[in-house]
Amino acid sequence: MAFSSVVFSNPSTSSFSSATYVRHPNPILTRSHLLPTPWLAPSSSSHPFSFRIPTLPKPCSRAGGALRCSLSSRPEYIPNRISDPNYVRIFDTTLRDGEQSPGATMTSNEKLVVARHLSRLGVDIIEAGFPASSPDDLDAVRSIAIEVGNQPVGEDGHVPVICGLARCNKKDIDAAWEAVRHAKKPRVHTFIATSEIHMEHKLRKTREEVVSIARDMVAYARSLGCPDVEFSPEDAGRSDREFLYHVLAEVIKAGATTLNIPDTVGYTLPSEFGQLIADIKANTPGIENVIISTHCQNDLGLATANTLAGACAGARQLEVTVNGIGERAGNASLEEVVIAMKCRQGLMGGLYTAINTKHIVMASKMVAEYTGLYVQPHKAIVGANAFAHESGIHQDGMLKHKGTYEIISPDDIGLSRSNDSGIVLGKLSGRHALKSRLMEFGYDIDGKELDDVFKRFKEIAEKKKRISDEDLEALISDEIFQPPVIWSLGELQATCGTLGLSTATVKLIASDGEEKIACSIGTGPVDAAYKAIDSIVKVPAALREYALSAVTEGIDAIATTRVVISGNDSDTSSTHALTGEAMRRTFSGSGAAMDIVVSSVRAYISALNKMLGFVSAMKASKEAPISSSTSVE
Ligand code: KIV
Repeated sequence: MAFSSVVFSNPSTSSFSSATYVRHPNPILTRSHLLPTPWLAPSSSSHPFSFRIPTLPKPCSRAGGALRCSLSSRPEYIPNRISDPNYVRIFDTTLRDGEQSPGATMTSNEKLVVARHLSRLGVDIIEAGFPASSPDDLDAVRSIAIEVGNQPVGEDGHVPVICGLARCNKKDIDAAWEAVRHAKKPRVHTFIATSEIHMEHKLRKTREEVVSIARDMVAYARSLGCPDVEFSPEDAGRSDREFLYHVLAEVIKAGATTLNIPDTVGYTLPSEFGQLIADIKANTPGIENVIISTHCQNDLGLATANTLAGACAGARQLEVTVNGIGERAGNASLEEVVIAMKCRQGLMGGLYTAINTKHIVMASKMVAEYTGLYVQPHKAIVGANAFAHESGIHQDGMLKHKGTYEIISPDDIGLSRSNDSGIVLGKLSGRHALKSRLMEFGYDIDGKELDDVFKRFKEIAEKKKRISDEDLEALISDEIFQPPVIWSLGELQATCGTLGLSTATVKLIASDGEEKIACSIGTGPVDAAYKAIDSIVKVPAALREYALSAVTEGIDAIATTRVVISGNDSDTSSTHALTGEAMRRTFSGSGAAMDIVVSSVRAYISALNKMLGFVSAMKASKEAPISSSTSVE
């Protein structure tokens, strides 16, 4: 194992520690602010810009206001039609486009946990994966279809559509249908490229061939019994318009219910993308019988802007990912699109979604922890600094009037970082106090989970007088967002310095309780410890990334470590949806401790556990024939 890159991130910018903000006493997006009359009335509005909004969107003019509309008036799901012209479906592809980005591998269980949360968040459609990419992905999508695709959530008893991606061939479509058919509302999403550059160089097919494949494969998916088929002309942003109208018209005739328009390489500008959607709407025969969707990549940093332009031009499904993760520079981010629509609803003609924005922060944390793709501090909506007011002028403004520097309230996205209960945690605090404080953070844990966090909390409290919110966040992330334990850390002893070689002795405990001890030398204590672990676990692993940061200031800060590793055999590969090539998976792991070597070791073990879990799931899926699937029918 070799350190291929070592990154030390700046503690002052890599955590919530710099994100102090004053709590908003009268948040802009609370229910009362979204009620039509008070929101516009000068006497009750605390935000100058709200006077500039001339009219209220239709859904908000109903009794109950926009928030109530968005949470309780989700129109009944009909694949190719939406009864309310202002309703916009949110299609989340975190588990498909997001998960295929480098380093973002999630285990099947993690995907299921994320899918459950997406459902709670109110996402209309969950693209759960690309089932043909690997037997494991098929299994993961099937589990999501069986559980999340049949489980009503929230006040409106919403059950999301579960979608699987397929290239335009029968094998992919069979796999996607096999995976999603267990859901109450299953959808197959099939795609083929339509731009000249893709057709000539990637597909090596003529226009006529592409049209006929697209038409036949949409019809094939319908013929399997799938009532809901989405079609995407890949690289639509660079496709010839007339050809695009023709392909789209043909797949509508073949039974497509949603037409998704991808800006695959993130090339278009907002005005251009909006015009593309408007042109498709105006020129495609049969378009009134389907839903138009957007899928915008972020190569020029315009994914959110393009998505919003698409919605304004008539798209009624928006494809997004949590934290904007995805291929290359990512996708349009769910939180940016949803909050922008909510915040500027008046300018967007009253468009609304059914996303329960209070679950955004937890979705963001969960996805960051499971994928190892951390959010930059200045990321809109969910970045650590998104609600931080550091400069004196801003703080002064905030104290005088929240509307001076805050256009949305942290509460509305589920960010509750003020200490409502006044509980200050220290070494004398009990389980109950810890549980109450964690509840305020959005973690409702009990039983063994709470016991484990409490044990770690006590260990730290012995060494630190006062446990800050940031310490707690680090601790809970380290305990909660971990893959199933195959190996856990028993003991660790390391020595280092200028006098000789660094050495480490590590005791690991296997899931059956067996203990193994190994020692090793290395270029430093972390290297020595990782080598000792390798000699126990005995799986090939290469360290791709290593980053260590302190969550708070001071010598007694908790250190968090993130590592990314890769395996070296076929069990850690899967097929890439767009290129069709085998891609080697990488696995992230994180750890937190006051001792930086312990923190580093915890992170490495976490990544190994993830990789081992992935490999055994792959092996199990390969051995189990598709027909042996459990069915809810
Ligand atoms: O970026 C893209 O074109 C895609 C399609 C499969 C929708 O991911």
